[in-house]
Amino acid sequence: MTEWQKTNWRSKPRVQMPDYTDKAALAKVEAKLSQYPPLVFAGEARRLKQHLGAAGRGEAFLLQGGDCAESFDQFSADAIRDTFKVMLQMAMVLTYGAKVPVIKVGRMAGQFAKPRSAPTEVIDGVELPSYRGDIINELAFTPEAREPRPEKMLQAYTQAAATLNLLRAFSTGGFADMSRVHSWTLGFTDEQDVQKYSEVADRIQDTIDFMKAAGITADTTHEFSTVEFYTSHEGLLLEYEEALTRLDSTSGKWLAGSGHMIWIGDRTRQPDGAHVEFCRGVLNPIGLKCGPTTTAEDLKVLMSKLNPDNEEGRLTLIARFGAGKAGEHLPRLIKAVKEEGAKVTWVCDPMHGNTIKSATGYKTRPFDSVLREVRDFFGVHQAEGTIPGGVHFEMTGLDVTECTGGVRAVSEEDLSDRYHTACDPRLNASQSLELAFLVAEELTNLRRDRKKREAS
Ligand code: PEP
Ligand code: CO
Repeated sequence: MTEWQKTNWRSKPRVQMPDYTDKAALAKVEAKLSQYPPLVFAGEARRLKQHLGAAGRGEAFLLQGGDCAESFDQFSADAIRDTFKVMLQMAMVLTYGAKVPVIKVGRMAGQFAKPRSAPTEVIDGVELPSYRGDIINELAFTPEAREPRPEKMLQAYTQAAATLNLLRAFSTGGFADMSRVHSWTLGFTDEQDVQKYSEVADRIQDTIDFMKAAGITADTTHEFSTVEFYTSHEGLLLEYEEALTRLDSTSGKWLAGSGHMIWIGDRTRQPDGAHVEFCRGVLNPIGLKCGPTTTAEDLKVLMSKLNPDNEEGRLTLIARFGAGKAGEHLPRLIKAVKEEGAKVTWVCDPMHGNTIKSATGYKTRPFDSVLREVRDFFGVHQAEGTIPGGVHFEMTGLDVTECTGGVRAVSEEDLSDRYHTACDPRLNASQSLELAFLVAEELTNLRRDRKKREAS
C-alpha cells in the first residue's frame, strides 16, 4: 500500500460535507489552521488508546458523553462546568458499581459538524440547505445563514481551545478531587436521584476518610485529586481535520490534533469513502458507529482498514441500533469480529437509534427506549460471552426538556419548556444520573456472574 498522506481523502468519494463556494477563503482558513497549535498531543491519544484497550478486555469502562452538537451561541463556562460535573457523578456511580476505572471522554471541544438525513430542509414551501453544525453554517432559516462559510472553522477552533483549557483546569485544579464528591450535585436534579447519589457519595467519602486515617491522603494521592478527561468528536469536516493533523516526532506517525478520539458516523462509514481514508492514517483511537445497515462484510473490511495491526484500543465499535433491535443486529457483527480475531472495544450508543418525532412536533427520545437499548446491549454480550466496554450518550448538565420520561417524567407537552439543543435531544442531568445507575447495576451483575463462573 502506498504511504498514507493527510490529503489522500480528497481523491475519494465524500458525503455529508459542504461544497464551499469561496475557494480562496477556504484555502486561507486551511492555511491558518495548519499553523495553529494542535489541541491535543500524541502521548495523550496513545494513553487513551491504552485505556480503551483495557475497556475491551473488561478491565476498564468507557463513559463518553456530551452535546449532540456544540453551539457557538450557547458556549459558556457554566455549561461546560455542569456537563463536566454530571460526567464526574456518572463516573463515580459507574466506578462504584463496576469496580474498574471509568474512562471519561467528552463529546466536547470539537463536536461541531453534523451529518444530516436530508441535504435540504423545506419550511412553508421554502427549500434551503440543511443546517450542518456551527462549524459549517447557521441554524437560522435564511439563505445567508445556511450558506457554508469556511471562516466558521476558525471560530470552532477557538471555542474548542477555550473549552479544552477549562476542562484541563477542572480536571487537575482541585475541582475533580474525589473528596468533593458531594459538591458535584446540581441544584435541579431530582430528589430521588440526589438521594441515591448521596448514598454512593457517602460510601466513597467513608472510604476516603478511612484511607486518610490509615495515612493515605487524598492530597498526596494524585489519583484521588485529579481526573483524566479526554475529548472526542465525529471526524466529519475533513478540511478542518486535515489542517490540524500533525506529525508526531516521537513515533513518526500522524496525529489528528483536533481531539483525542475521533469517530466515523453511521452515514460516513463507506469502506472506500473519504472519511475512512482519513481516519485510517491517524494514530488516534478511532470510533466506528455501527447501525442496522452495517453488514458483516463491510465491518470486516473496515476493521482491516482501520486497524490493520489489530492493536488493542485502536478501534471502538459504537453500536446504535434502537431499542429492541440489538438482538437482531449485534450477534452477526460480534460473529464477524470473532471470525477475524479482531480486537475491538464494544460500546453502546442508545441515543441515535431511538429518535422519534413527538406529537407536539419536537424531535425527542423516550427515556425508556434509551434504557431498553442499554439493557439489550448488555444482554447480547452476556449471551455471546463478549465484553460490553462502555456507553456513549448525548447529555448535558443543563436542566433541559429534550428527551421524554425519567423519574422527573418529562412529558411530550413539557418538551417546549426548555428545548435548547442545536441538533438531537439530550438527556438532562437527572436522566443522565438515572441512566448511570442502570448501567452500574448491569455492571455489578456482570461482575457477580463472572466471579461465580470463576469460582465454579
Ligand atoms: C452522532 O453521534 O451525533 C451521530 C450523528 O450519530 P450516528 O452517526 O450514529 O447517527
Ligand atoms: Co446526535
